[in-house]
Amino acid sequence: MEKITVSLIKADVGGFPGHSTVREELMEISEKRLKAAKDEGLLVDYCVMNAGDDLQLLMSHRKGVNSEEIHRLAWETFEEATRKAKELKLHGAGQDLLKEAFSGNIRGMGPGIAEIEFTERGSEPIIAFMMDKTEPGAFNLPIFRMFADPFNTAGLVIDPTMHSGFRFEIWDIKEHRRIFMNSPEEMYDILALVGAKSRYVIKRVYPKEGGPLPPDEPVAVISTEKLSFIAGRYIGKDDPVALVRAQSGLPALGEVLEPFSRPFLVSGWMRGSHNGPIMPVPFQYSKCTRFDGPPRVLAAGFQMSNGRLVGPADLFDDVAFDEARRIANEIANYMREHGPFEPHRLPLEEMEYTTLPDVLKKLESRFESVE
Ligand code: F6R
Ligand code: MG
Ligand code: MG
Repeated sequence: MEKITVSLIKADVGGFPGHSTVREELMEISEKRLKAAKDEGLLVDYCVMNAGDDLQLLMSHRKGVNSEEIHRLAWETFEEATRKAKELKLHGAGQDLLKEAFSGNIRGMGPGIAEIEFTERGSEPIIAFMMDKTEPGAFNLPIFRMFADPFNTAGLVIDPTMHSGFRFEIWDIKEHRRIFMNSPEEMYDILALVGAKSRYVIKRVYPKEGGPLPPDEPVAVISTEKLSFIAGRYIGKDDPVALVRAQSGLPALGEVLEPFSRPFLVSGWMRGSHNGPIMPVPFQYSKCTRFDGPPRVLAAGFQMSNGRLVGPADLFDDVAFDEARRIANEIANYMREHGPFEPHRLPLEEMEYTTLPDVLKKLESRFESVE
């Protein structure tokens, strides 16, 4: 059986208005480009979406991960969308395209990317998660819950095909190194790392040996690009995406979505410098207006059929998530009351915007020593 690759590549190439959403013209350009690539046979299928101000290109193909052709297609699509964004004077036109010329791989050039290659099963449900106004570490808690928390995922306890747990690939995004760890055996050590979500990020999850799935084919993958590390200065948040496969030896669809029923705090929101709740929303509410947020997560569900992406199903378009949205609004109100104070405002080293060096410089001569 020939393997299939699913690539989710996203970029903010201009917001409308401000940083709230993506303008229809940019979606149409992407739609046209990806359709042409499908007609040519480069793509098996595709789906163009947006999460807040991020343009999302979901593509299935047989070129494997890190394919130059696929990455070039995404890059050139973002370039064309940027030209339109500049013409319309959209906000931050081309902001995530950090390099001038494409050189073979889109990694490190600004866009976020989650890619996964696997052997398609008899039934292959896959969920594309897209977050806006937050950072890659925001996926640590829900991914941990899905694949390692027995209070979230009943299958870990009662399904013989997943009772042995999963293997986590964790990246130290500051030191550019990674480690593989097993759950549940090393659960406390895993949490010691991934609880520090601004530095240690879950990159992939694998099945263990001896189960129904090949242990070398990932079952979840998360984008880990940190724009600030790429550019060396602030140019926007890294608004992450993830692909998660479900069912039959993996968490069920409902176990994959369950972690979002309780809004947890993530960093990002206004000016990439605040903690706030992540709100699970249907596609139609993917518009970040309140204090440029609150941070949002969308879930697009598909069944794959020989590479075809049958879908999307708008998975948070469900009254069962109304309560999560209500709680997220309550948390948003509570956090906002702190105004410029931590822990609403991020600690100094994590803020994307800061006036502190200038303020300190101005006040330097007035500081006096104290015992
Ligand atoms: C956060 C975000 C927005 C902007 C804010 C200021 O990720 O995108 O909150 O940081 O709207 O944007 P500029 O500096 O473009 O006016
Ligand atoms: Mg933006
Ligand atoms: Mg964004």
